[in-house]
Amino acid sequence: VTTWEELAAHAGSAYLRYSFTKGTAQEVGFLVEALEISPGHRVLDVGCGPGRHAHGLTAAGARVVGVDLAEAFVREARAGGAGPVFVRGDARRLPVRAGAFDAVVCLCQGGFGLLGGGADESAALAQMADALRPGGRLALSAFSAYFAAMNMEEGESLDPASGVLTEHTTVRGPTGEERPFRLDSTCFTPRELRLMASAAGLEVDAVWSVGPGRYQRRAPTYELPEWLMVAHRPGATLKRR
Ligand SMILES: C[S@@+](CC[C@H](N)C(=O)[O-])C[C@H]1O[C@@H](n2cnc3c(N)ncnc32)[C@H](O)[C@@H]1O
Repeated sequence: VTTWEELAAHAGSAYLRYSFTKGTAQEVGFLVEALEISPGHRVLDVGCGPGRHAHGLTAAGARVVGVDLAEAFVREARAGGAGPVFVRGDARRLPVRAGAFDAVVCLCQGGFGLLGGGADESAALAQMADALRPGGRLALSAFSAYFAAMNMEEGESLDPASGVLTEHTTVRGPTGEERPFRLDSTCFTPRELRLMASAAGLEVDAVWSVGPGRYQRRAPTYELPEWLMVAHRPGATLKRR
């Protein structure tokens, strides 16, 4: 089984050529509004990859820390511009201070959906909840189990027991060389996300149906590939939305 560290080392800057990364500006704009991120807010991006959201949130005035397991992506993220702080780390043991962040984002499987469909994903969610100050908000995206089951493509399989979608795909590096990779991503239902979030001590505000570059307040549907869950850590007065 190939790992994300190997994939990152191979893909490097070519990751940002994938179409699913092209909706960053829309996603960042939506998150700033939905999480009420204001200039000066501290935001943690878990599984930040090459830092596309971290840089966008910095441009919106936030003070951002990005964490990713893959050294090559941390390097890319740092090369993407000054402002955010990028550190290498594991979503299951976040190298950050408890209660230090106004908002946490974990997008496009950033660590959460890549942990095998077992207890590790709950552990990662608990770490994110811990990093939030009381009243702080989380936005987490995850693959939809419904969409994955209904739109199985050639080279994919979905394990009904664990919800893990396995894809065999070819990844191109910066100079065009191709390498085969196996990607395992856990898929979820909105109910699972809600149960996991409340077990982590979070209160769920909404689970929406979204796609890359299509973050929106849309009720869960079978038709879109991802969920976007917004939740908060209870304990402080929340402004009405
Ligand atoms: C599909 S990429 C998404 C990256 C970024 N959030 C984005 O939207 O472009 C998944 C990221 O999760 C990272 N990752 C995988 N396992 C992780 C773990 N256990 N802890 C932290 N990051 C992890 C990978 O290195 C990769 O950068």
